[in-house]
Parts: sequence; structure tokens; C-alpha cells
Amino acid sequence: MLEINQLCKSFTSGSGEKRIILDELDLTVNAAERVAIVGPSGSGKSTLLNLIGALDAPDSGTILLNGESVFSKTEAELAVFRNHSVGFVFQSHHLLPQFSLKENILLPVLAQQRNIDQLVLERADYLMERLGIASLQKQRPSQLSRGECQRTAVARALINRPKILLADEPTGALDQHSADQLVELLLQLNREEKVSLLVVTHAMRVASQMGKIYNLTDGKLLIK
Ligand SMILES: Nc1ncnc2c1ncn2[C@@H]1O[C@H](COP(=O)(O)OP(=O)(O)O)[C@@H](O)[C@H]1O
Ligand SMILES: [Mg+2]
Repeated sequence: MLEINQLCKSFTSGSGEKRIILDELDLTVNAAERVAIVGPSGSGKSTLLNLIGALDAPDSGTILLNGESVFSKTEAELAVFRNHSVGFVFQSHHLLPQFSLKENILLPVLAQQRNIDQLVLERADYLMERLGIASLQKQRPSQLSRGECQRTAVARALINRPKILLADEPTGALDQHSADQLVELLLQLNREEKVSLLVVTHAMRVASQMGKIYNLTDGKLLIK
């Protein structure tokens, strides 16, 4: 489903020094698989997710999603790819404050089409129900708890039925109860919708719920 081969990424610092962040990294994630990535701060976890989500380009190597190369696409194709093939959840939810919870969930659809059809509205209703936020759908993000915002961000990430959900420290800003609740919902959606999970986390409590745990060290992934 997701196949990464020999992925290299380096950054050049202000002083002109080149730092290798990802060094011939390989990773395969199968359909419906759950994978956690742990590793020290600064080891390149976010860099890796950003490359998979085509938010950044590698120095070399390949990333195939369903056999298709992410980096052979035009800008227009990339926009559709980002919107449909991958879902992103970050540590902070990035909801837009001026929109309601439901409007935030529909934003990825509104970004590409002016009219929202009935099936999409039903999908939003289903996800809100599933994530326990249906009764809050008219509220603005400022009126919601962090856990509720994060569950909204999950619904927004899944509205277009991506094959894989990329989550970068999704519970990092949550208390234990909200974190447990979020992880349980991610596991349920993984089972029900067969969406693969690739979760970067500091919390072993979260990582241990995934099927596989990799440690990102020295630019490579080692199974834990
Ligand atoms: N756009 C960038 N320009 C320069 N350096 C960067 C950039 N993005 C990340 N880095 C550096 O790459 C390293 C890995 O960062 P990151 O992937 O955010 O680590 P992690 O998510 O594991 O904490 C860090 O040293 C960071 O400073
Ligand atoms: Mg990070």
C-alpha cells in the first residue's frame, strides 16, 4: 500500500552545514496496518510524515502509494493527492476558528468543489456520530475542548476516505483520558474503514496499541 525505498533527506543549516536526517530509509505499510514511529526529538519523524504527505520533497528515494509515485505528479495532481490519498492529523488541530466544527470537517471537500453533495454530508454526519461530536457540530473550535478539537481534526482527515492516516503526535496536547479516547477511536476506524495508521508518538502507551513499532534513529527505522 505504502512503500518507501532508500529515502534520503538532508537539510542545510544557516552556516551551510549539511545534516542528513533520513538516510536510505525503507518502510512498507500494508492496507489496514497500524504502525507507530517513535524516536528522539529532532530525529526526523515529522520530516518523514511530511514527505509521505508530499508536503516536502526528498533528496532521493521513492515513495509509492498504491503503486503510484507521489513525486511524479504535477502541482494540480498533488493537490488532489494530498486531499484524497492521505489524511493528516497534527499535534495541534489546525482548525479554522471562524468556522463551525462541521464546516471544518467539510473544508477539504470545499477546497476542491463548490457544492457539497448529499453523500459527503452523510459521510460528515457519520464521522461526527462515530467520533462522538455530532451534538457539537454548530460550535466553533474556541467553544470545544482540546480532545473534541482533535476528534474534529480526525473527522476532517477522514472525510475523503484516505487510504492512510498520518498522525504526528496526535495525543501530544491531550490529557490522558482524551488521549485514550482518541486512540480508541483511531483503532475503531482502522478496523471499520481499513484505513492504515502511521502514528508518530512519544507515548509508549499509544505506540503499544499499534501493530508494529519502529524507532527512527540515525536516519533509519529499526523495529522495536
Ligand atoms: N525545513 C527545515 N529546514 C532546516 N532544518 C529542518 C527543517 N525541518 C526540519 N529540520 C531539522 O531536521 C531535524 C528533524 O526534524 P523533525 O523531522 O521535525 O524531527 P522530529 O519530528 O523527529 O522531532 C531537526 O534537526 C530539524 O531542526
Ligand atoms: Mg516532530
